[in-house]
Amino acid sequence: MTMAGAFFFLLPLAFFSALIHHRIPPVSACPNVPSMTVEAACEKATGTLLMYELCKDALRDVTYPSNGVDLYALVGAKRALASYDDTARAAGTLRGNASLPGDERDAYASCEESYRAATDTMDRVAAALVGCRFLDDGDDLGQVYRDGVAQVEGCRDRVMKLPASPLYARSLVDRNLAVLAYFLGKLLGVQ
Ligand SMILES: *[C@@H]1O[C@H](CO)[C@@H](O)[C@H](O)[C@H]1NC(C)=O
Repeated sequence: MTMAGAFFFLLPLAFFSALIHHRIPPVSACPNVPSMTVEAACEKATGTLLMYELCKDALRDVTYPSNGVDLYALVGAKRALASYDDTARAAGTLRGNASLPGDERDAYASCEESYRAATDTMDRVAAALVGCRFLDDGDDLGQVYRDGVAQVEGCRDRVMKLPASPLYARSLVDRNLAVLAYFLGKLLGVQ
């Protein structure tokens, strides 16, 4: 192989090697944010095996070995949003079922309301993370996270009183996802 040939052969390799060794940051965009592996982030953020496993699962599609924790916080928020969307749809279907007793349908309507609020709240979180505005003094992001947890718990508390509601298990998962998102946010210094 000629020198020039070797150069053009090696150039893409160098490029991919830079990608693999994540010298090119994939998504993480905020300055002065610590970087770590998914395992390290989940260990640091969570205190129980249940939450650790949920964390690993929520971050399963993160491909780079090490990332800024702002990325993990954002993925955590997006996982919660996707799950809220599924649950809200399920609540809407249940509310629309005329064979269900009125009080059950009222509970599902109230869940749809709770999830609309929780979705708006988590959208605010995601916007703050994308904009690197997680430590603004005037805007207590920790309080926003906690409001979101309370909104999801609102639905859980309604369906808990129903006999064997299919929404109960979902509301428990969503509550844990809301808490996980908050725990991941705390890696950024959110209180
Ligand atoms: C509506 O609720 C009834 C009673 O729980 C159930 O048997 C039926 O499958 C439901 N229909 C739909 C479309 O989900």
